[in-house]
Amino acid sequence: MNKNSNNSVESGKEQTVPILDFGSQYVQLIARRVREAGVHAVLVAPDISVSELRAMNPIGLILSGGPASVYEPGAPRCDPKIFDLQIPVLGICYGMQIAAQLLGGQVKPAAAAAEYGATRLQVRHDGAVGTYSDELFTGVPEETGVWMSHGDQVKELGRDFIALAATATCPLAAIRHKTRPFFGVQFHPEVTHTPYGGKILENFLYCVCRAAGSWRMGNFLNIAVDKIRQQVSSGRVLCGLSGGVDSAVVAALLHRAIGEQLTCIFVDNGLLRKNERASVESTFRDHFHIDLRVVDAADEFLSALADVTEPQTKRKIIGKAFIDVFKRASRGIRDARFLAQGTLYPDVIESGQGYAHTAANIKLHHNVGGLPAELGFELVEPLRELFKDEVRRLGEVLGLPEAIVWRHPFPGPGLAVRCIGEITSEKLAILRAADEILLEEIVAAGLYRTTAQSFAVLLPVNSVAVMGDDRGYKPVIALRSVDSTDFMTADWSRIPYDILARISNRIVNEVRSVSRVVYDITSKPPGTIEWE
Ligand code: XMP
Repeated sequence: MNKNSNNSVESGKEQTVPILDFGSQYVQLIARRVREAGVHAVLVAPDISVSELRAMNPIGLILSGGPASVYEPGAPRCDPKIFDLQIPVLGICYGMQIAAQLLGGQVKPAAAAAEYGATRLQVRHDGAVGTYSDELFTGVPEETGVWMSHGDQVKELGRDFIALAATATCPLAAIRHKTRPFFGVQFHPEVTHTPYGGKILENFLYCVCRAAGSWRMGNFLNIAVDKIRQQVSSGRVLCGLSGGVDSAVVAALLHRAIGEQLTCIFVDNGLLRKNERASVESTFRDHFHIDLRVVDAADEFLSALADVTEPQTKRKIIGKAFIDVFKRASRGIRDARFLAQGTLYPDVIESGQGYAHTAANIKLHHNVGGLPAELGFELVEPLRELFKDEVRRLGEVLGLPEAIVWRHPFPGPGLAVRCIGEITSEKLAILRAADEILLEEIVAAGLYRTTAQSFAVLLPVNSVAVMGDDRGYKPVIALRSVDSTDFMTADWSRIPYDILARISNRIVNEVRSVSRVVYDITSKPPGTIEWE
């Protein structure tokens, strides 16, 4: 795919701010902040040509940060002619350094140790710097916190630049050019640790670039629909539905774009929660009228899992069985050339992809359901630029039901990693019944949207229960509910006692084969969210 292939779709239709991606971990965060401010942003390669940029008719440009040093051989560069376009440019971190270097300044390693983390910024509101500085820092206090992450600094500027702000160790923490509409900030306005960062970006967009602010999620929808149509033309697209929000939004989006050219496959692996399959069928087949093929593969998965107790082995078996089943199902669909996937931006950046292909590889994925390239499909990944909350907003715009848009994440291996130890259909039935009660009560108490994940776990432990005059010796259910924003860290939810009491009561009374209910009060770290 042409690395600037996004460009043609937007040109002329929407006020656009291209972001030259020098490989920053934060580049999509910049795009997201620009979108949040009501302006369309698109990522482009750092060496995009001036004519390509001009064709996009941009109202401003942003140069992102990046891990390289501008003075190293092979460091990514932009065409210096972009500074002659008379279009406002904001350079962030590496983006400021490359601009300073190309416009006659000098960049060197910071004399003090590299600067990482929160620091204080002194803004020069002295009027001596002319109107442009006030535009960028309008409404920003003279002293404010900013987030730094750099090893190099701009050391010397030619006489054409003005310093706008400084930190204790970085005298040129914000600069502007005297005659060109160029601004640079050494800190990261796009991260939440820079409290006035959103304001500074808004100032750039509205006071400097004179944006109209008409960008909405509905515009993303129209652009995404155009792109999908361009990519697939009259081809048939397969989409594996998992019941989760990402694949649901991809399916609804594709259906909007190409209607009957879409076929969805839903694999019932026998490890789903109660009503999960019915809800997918009613939403996608009955409501959206999508060609949905449900593959009942429960027996295949459960027999492959027989006697397996080790969690990672469970995951591997489930991953492999999923690929086998999906392959077989897809063979039956003639002419399928494309495969749609709900890849989100955090997945892209964590795997070190991106326009500059330089973002460090942060973490390995443990997703099951990823399909190997040998299947031979061309991928359609319309959510690659979005964050989870943006995907949810898009789901709402597409008319997906609230229960799907706001659904808690459910792991690919499903109940297999919540049925601790050996998996049998009897144990799964107990777990499903307890889990359904927990979720019903969480929803009824209005806690579904405030908790990040709430579920039941079936422990491989029996305990004694006295029921009437009978003595029972039956399994234990653990309840797990966590609050989290990124699922990397989590705290256990402070569910009110009376709600816990009702859940426990209902489980021991309604799921007759449970003796005892316990509540997991472990944070992550050290405890993971799932038990296995
Ligand atoms: P942990 O248990 O690692 O979970 O704290 C963090 C998040 O990841 C989900 N999770 C998985 N998702 N396949 C998935 O698709 C898996 O194997 C898997 N394991 C954990 C978990 O539900 C939580 O949202």
